[in-house]
Amino acid sequence: MLIYNKKKSHLSENQVTPESVYLQRRQILQGLGLGLGAAALSAPASAGLFDALLGSKETKEQGAKEVIASTEPLTFSQPKAYQLDIAPTAEGVATTYNNFYEFGADKSDPARYAQQFKTKPWTITISGEVEHPQTIDVWAWLEKQQLEERIYRHRCVEAWSMVIPWLGVPLSSIIKAAKPTSKAKYVAFETLYDPKQMRGQSSRFVGGGIEYPYVEGLRLDEAMHPLALLAVGMYGKTLPPQNGAPVRLVLPWKYGFKGIKSIVNIHLTDKQPPTTWNKLASYEYGFYANVNPKVDHPRWSQATERVIAEGGLFGSGRQPTLMFNGYEDEVASLYQGMDLRKFY
Ligand code: MTE
Repeated sequence: MLIYNKKKSHLSENQVTPESVYLQRRQILQGLGLGLGAAALSAPASAGLFDALLGSKETKEQGAKEVIASTEPLTFSQPKAYQLDIAPTAEGVATTYNNFYEFGADKSDPARYAQQFKTKPWTITISGEVEHPQTIDVWAWLEKQQLEERIYRHRCVEAWSMVIPWLGVPLSSIIKAAKPTSKAKYVAFETLYDPKQMRGQSSRFVGGGIEYPYVEGLRLDEAMHPLALLAVGMYGKTLPPQNGAPVRLVLPWKYGFKGIKSIVNIHLTDKQPPTTWNKLASYEYGFYANVNPKVDHPRWSQATERVIAEGGLFGSGRQPTLMFNGYEDEVASLYQGMDLRKFY
């Protein structure tokens, strides 16, 4: 994030799909009898269809065509509780404006440098305070999962936001299966460490000075909350590498940095685990990192956010930030009695 000198975002107006164009695309797909999760068309075919019907240059211009082609369509349900009345951010934006420091500190680096990232085979270990430690073969496991689409607000601590249609399963399902012991109070997560594949891990300059592997953590009750999602896809398909393939966390009431990507280890413990950004700058990034418009970052306000999907031609581009990112009713009870200025 903004500790190190970073170039300004390269996002330009033509990278933003106005809502009208997004809705037009949706209508065209519906007219053709295809939903968002249209498995009838292969992903590359549907991307080509968008371009042919609407003359969109967005994916070509950003090299996102390759991104879309490397993902696979998924089958999923769309529970009403997790749909939003807001148009999701354009896919071409959400897959090219990323934070994934293992591939570089610039927003455009992950899409540029992660395309050769090997996500098959992939295993996740679940260890520590559990009765059934396990090693999960992710792709075999995925075949048995009933995926849900959850359209969540996505708020980065850098004060920008998007709306993303994720696909995944509740994080609680994988934790329950391992049977936490009574000592388990926290859950620690770790990203793959592979400097040969991740250029940022072999150079402090490229990787933003982070000590790798990237690590994150939650209290066990936060991890078991129904909103906490173990995501394997977005926009109807498997995750592209720059968004954290093959498995990442999505915690919509917290700042985006808690959403650790490309997870290989989940460890249950009785102690609060270290987290990457807290280790780097504890006065700026706390363990909890709940979205809170009343608690500013030491160097900028968190009261409003730049809406990436609506920037550029349409709308003001800024909106007020909501307490717990709009999920207050669901999660406030987790933090009852806590001083949220102290536990930021
Ligand atoms: N996970 C890893 N392993 N490395 C990272 O650099 N960046 C975090 C989070 N997960 C990051 C990570 C930050 S700061 C944000 S805002 C989100 O991923 C961005 O997710 P997105 O690129 O899908 O929008």
